[in-house]
Amino acid sequence: MMRFFLGGLLNLQPDNARHCINGNNLISMNMIKVNLGGCSSFVKDADYSKYVGKALDAFDVLQNESGAGNDFLGWKTLPVDVTEDIISGCEAVRDSWKAKGINLVIVIGIGGSYLGAKCALEALSHSFVRPADQPQVVFAGNNLSEEYLAELMDLAKTSNVAVIVISKSGTTTEPAVAFRIFKEYVEATYGKAEAAERIVAITDASRGALKTLSNQEGYKTFVVPDNVGGRYSVLTPVGLLPIAVAGFDIRAMLAGAAEEREALMVKSADNAAVQYAAMRNLLHLENGKSTEILVTYNPKLTFLAEWWKQLYGESEGKDLKGIFPASVANTADLHSMGQFIQEGSRIMFETVVSVEKSNRSVVIGSDEQNLDQLNYLAGQHVNHCNAMAQLGTKLAHIDGGVPQMEVSIESINEKNLGAIFYFFEFACGVSAYVLGVNPFNQPGVEAYKKNMFALLEKPGYEEQTKAIKARI
Ligand code: PA5
Repeated sequence: MMRFFLGGLLNLQPDNARHCINGNNLISMNMIKVNLGGCSSFVKDADYSKYVGKALDAFDVLQNESGAGNDFLGWKTLPVDVTEDIISGCEAVRDSWKAKGINLVIVIGIGGSYLGAKCALEALSHSFVRPADQPQVVFAGNNLSEEYLAELMDLAKTSNVAVIVISKSGTTTEPAVAFRIFKEYVEATYGKAEAAERIVAITDASRGALKTLSNQEGYKTFVVPDNVGGRYSVLTPVGLLPIAVAGFDIRAMLAGAAEEREALMVKSADNAAVQYAAMRNLLHLENGKSTEILVTYNPKLTFLAEWWKQLYGESEGKDLKGIFPASVANTADLHSMGQFIQEGSRIMFETVVSVEKSNRSVVIGSDEQNLDQLNYLAGQHVNHCNAMAQLGTKLAHIDGGVPQMEVSIESINEKNLGAIFYFFEFACGVSAYVLGVNPFNQPGVEAYKKNMFALLEKPGYEEQTKAIKARI
């Protein structure tokens, strides 16, 4: 589960007020730790207290459902609301496709209809070897690259294929294009009746082109609830079905999210989401930090950062406000972005997603000749080197003027992923209300679409086509 703790690695003052960030006290909220110690030299306790107060007010707005976008709060209870029918429905698709020997599942979707599942599969899958009894799960419809689609078709032609198509609106162009291509392929290869057994759609309960098509073709469908926006939908079938089909335990994921939810329901200055929301707004609004970098030290979490960037970027970046969400994947990026973070414009703070334990063990051996001069590491776990790189970087970045928060999970598994999904979603709601924006809309996403449709000469866009052609 996730851990947040106050104080910790730095030698901080022992003066512990309730909202004090300088304490060495380890405050454990169930399985959650917040480490704000890496911010202590950048902010005053009194300012932190003030922002905790704002975050507690925002917590009330979220819990009372009195804020902007309050018709999109279905995600708050998902960990305890997802029905047995939905869970066993996902597992039944997994089992029926396994019985058909399907070894390639193409998941079509974009944004919130793709990143949660992609994040979970990157985190949970073996990086190099796929178990023989599990299908390869790949993603499409998240770009308009012809090469990508052609190469995926090459793979499809040597595989036994099924398709999950996900679009809440049912009208998004990128997944619609990819689906048209793979629907045609699956029908041509297996016949129309069998195609209907190999295609599952996840969409609105009653609206949209995908729903109409699914009804007509007889596809099995799962519903994206009306009151859950795309980026908050990982614990609906949008995330659960691809994760289940890939062979992972969605019940454990929901249990982790439920456990985390229980801890976060407590209104308190020690609530991890309140602490995170308070500190990031304080760093932004009082210290002028415009960029938050989510830092990972395990390649399995690279897509956690991608999921987090959408969640925070789309939720907060509006009304000319917001913290720009960026990410680095260390230690690789210490050799590329490290220079900028250490000495470039002082615009950023960091949030490190820290994993306490490795699921695997690799120990560095001793070498008689020691030509690489690494014998000082003999007998050490590689994870120890990673932890020291993380700590060394933290100290260096603080010295360089970059405040650092830490969000810790014990290890990478379904339960902890469920917890971290729920934590970041809840904290995002609180944080956006502190900032004073509606966390649940995304009006800016439409702007490019209008231009693209006009340029593609979509029927109904004749006026815009004329106008845009005059500009180019
Ligand atoms: O968070 C969001 O609402 C968006 O990222 C959507 O998920 C994304 O645009 C895809 O939309 P749809 O599921 O309607 O195809």
